[in-house]
Amino acid sequence: MSHDSPLQDLDLAAGFLEPPPRRDTYAGWQRWRAGRGHFAPAPRLTLGQWRALSPRERSLYDLHRTATHVNLPLQETPMSLKVSRLVNRRIRNNALKTRPSTRAGVMVTGWGYQGKTETVCEVAAAFEDAWLAMHHHLHPQPTPGTRDVHAPVAYAQTPVTAKPKSTCQAILGFFGAETKRLTLPELIRQLAASLDDHGTKALILDDITRLRMHRADDQDTLDLIRAFMSMNVTLILVGVDILGSGLLRQGHFDEHTRQWVLPPSQHARVHGLEATQTERRFDLVELDRFRYTTPGQITAFHDHLAGLEANLRLLKAPPGMLTGGRMPEYLMRRTDGVVGLLERLIEDGCQEAMDSGKETLDEDLLDDVVLSLDDPERDALAGEVPAIPGSSRTRTTAAPRPACARGRGRNTVFDDHGPRGQAHG
Ligand SMILES: Nc1ncnc2c1ncn2[C@@H]1O[C@H](COP(=O)(O)OP(=O)(O)O)[C@@H](O)[C@H]1O
Ligand SMILES: [Mg+2]
Repeated sequence: MSHDSPLQDLDLAAGFLEPPPRRDTYAGWQRWRAGRGHFAPAPRLTLGQWRALSPRERSLYDLHRTATHVNLPLQETPMSLKVSRLVNRRIRNNALKTRPSTRAGVMVTGWGYQGKTETVCEVAAAFEDAWLAMHHHLHPQPTPGTRDVHAPVAYAQTPVTAKPKSTCQAILGFFGAETKRLTLPELIRQLAASLDDHGTKALILDDITRLRMHRADDQDTLDLIRAFMSMNVTLILVGVDILGSGLLRQGHFDEHTRQWVLPPSQHARVHGLEATQTERRFDLVELDRFRYTTPGQITAFHDHLAGLEANLRLLKAPPGMLTGGRMPEYLMRRTDGVVGLLERLIEDGCQEAMDSGKETLDEDLLDDVVLSLDDPERDALAGEVPAIPGSSRTRTTAAPRPACARGRGRNTVFDDHGPRGQAHG
């Protein structure tokens, strides 16, 4: 490749050859936090420039384009902004509290693929960036005598078929702690000590609604959440349809503070520990999908599409490829305004556009893209996989795509079902 080749950015993007870090360990979380937002997209080439490349350069460039299309950046949306603001305010204000009072937690609810995990992780990572910078500013030298790494944020995913013990183990796993053969009270004590030793300010427990709340151990689960909330961290619980899950069944909504209140446990001792008699407070915030009814909603969706389009590297894409004509309505209909489905459709569409040489996205091409969401990391039974519009697929079973996808009416009115009214409730 010559020195003035349009492809000199390629080595900047070498990061896409590494496997993505898992965020549920300290090392993985740090690697993700430090590397996020550093992906270098493929440079923009005209069709003429692309044609002038050598076969080797062209295949490298096409690989870089594919990497660009599957690593589309997170975009701020009005819905994600609402969630980020609240989560950020809670983490930051709680972290700055000097009294050991109980910290209000946050629950983030929404259906699958609506961006809960990404939105919450991004806010927490940004908090951690700022917190570490402040620490470095105040204590440039490592504090003498400290042995443990500083982990302002801990992230854990609730295990499928979670029980209180395995949930504690998952969180301790973030710190690489040995947890075999410990009893639940021992696990809880160790967790409290770990959070303290690592200076943890925010604990994210993702996919919390995998804890099914209709079993005999419901009480144990609620008591566990109370225990987490006594640990001087901001507890951030993320899940699908939290209100419908039973997690807040014993709670009540305080109109005045607009928070959910979990009363103290009825037991004197909980998990072998003395139960505290304080109530626990949570903000509940919903991460919604895009909607297409009011002018503001329509503008927000168009803005998002324009942002997506700016990141695509198709060689024959006309300006306004995603925002012009009936395309926004079409994309709304295909994805129900779910940000992750939209990303998937565009990603797969771009691959098809490159493979076929069409090098642009239009309805004809996208009609042939079948969305499928087989993701072993998601628990379909916990509602983490959304229904795909236009397919008869339900939450748990995949069904073939309708024979004539293009026969669907185009001027669908996008009903405002609301999250509770959707089919996957
Ligand atoms: N604000 C956003 N902008 C662009 N893409 C997003 C945004 N939020 C989420 N996504 C994409 O949507 C997909 C699903 O997001 P995720 O956070 O895993 O959803 P959830 O946790 O609600 O199931 C991810 O691939 C993510 O990159
Ligand atoms: Mg998630």
